[in-house]
Amino acid sequence: PAPLRALAQKAGIRIGTAVNSDALADEAPYEAKVGSEFSSVSPENVMKWDTVEPARGTYNYTQADALVSYAKAHGQLVRGHTLVWYNQLPSWVTSGDFTADQLRQVLHDHITSEVKHFKGKIWQWDVVNEAFNDDGSYRDDIWLQKLGPSYIEDAFRWAHQADPKAVLFINDYNIEGVNAKSTAVYDLVAKLRKEGVPLQGVGIQGHLDTQYPAPHDIATNMARFDKLGVQTAITEADVRIPLPADNTEVEAQNEAYQTLLEGCLLTRNCTDFTVWGFTDKYSWVPSTFKGEGQANIFDENYQPKTAYTALSQDLRLA
Ligand code: G3I
Repeated sequence: PAPLRALAQKAGIRIGTAVNSDALADEAPYEAKVGSEFSSVSPENVMKWDTVEPARGTYNYTQADALVSYAKAHGQLVRGHTLVWYNQLPSWVTSGDFTADQLRQVLHDHITSEVKHFKGKIWQWDVVNEAFNDDGSYRDDIWLQKLGPSYIEDAFRWAHQADPKAVLFINDYNIEGVNAKSTAVYDLVAKLRKEGVPLQGVGIQGHLDTQYPAPHDIATNMARFDKLGVQTAITEADVRIPLPADNTEVEAQNEAYQTLLEGCLLTRNCTDFTVWGFTDKYSWVPSTFKGEGQANIFDENYQPKTAYTALSQDLRLA
């Protein structure tokens, strides 16, 4: 059977996976599947601040560079993830007693250095990640508290200066359907683009749970972003199941994956569908959601699950 990346190419999109850099380096079947099934890759952790700049001005790109070379060798594009986030920050940032001006400089320097380091090698950057609460208000994190909401447009401007060709995304979860949070993202993107801020994409993470209904208005939601003239992408798809999984849950998982992919396929400027890890062997889910798991499209032995077949079918029909 044709690998997902071949089917995705015919459908006019990229299909990606988040990559666990340790597994990529250490495990042959993992490495083989990343190369054969996917046409884009996202670093699951190794481009985040705590890895890249563990001490001020000290940069570590070893694992990220390895992923970028891997991608090049396998004809894959790289989604850079992520420049500005409240999580996985090194303690020198979170507990450094910076004034607003100093913290703005810290953010500027981090974005500029990292984006320049990868200049020309990153297709799409998740510049700002998870800046909103579910009710549509701004997340009350270190950036908002110390810099106010203008940190967002600053981040896009600095990233664009450092690599004018990278496509710059804002990325978030729980924005699959039309709701308060996706509307807040929509309003911000509309405003920033009117002001000429270099923001060219909206990333919809797609972390779903079979215990909640799948977002059946995702295509409607994505269509309004399309009209703003931005690209969209499903950036972190996975669908967790309360364990043990029964057939109903597995069916719901297949359907949820299809709902996400169909949202992308129905949207003109949706460019990529990325799963947040592809094998149940490595997933962030079980440690975060006790009693849930099996969220991915391959099982722990790298065998394709029915969710894999469901995605294949949708790509074939596209
Ligand atoms: O690297 C350390 C290691 O040195 C240490 O021994 C070990 C002990 O806990 O922790 C390791 O760090 C872990 C890191 O993953 C790398 O494995 C962190 O504890 C762990 O919290 C971290 O989890 C990541 C999570 O982001 C952090 O919030 C997940 O792998 C990653 O999949 C997840 O990805 C996020 C996206 O970036 C943004 N959207 C949501 C998504 C899921 O949470």
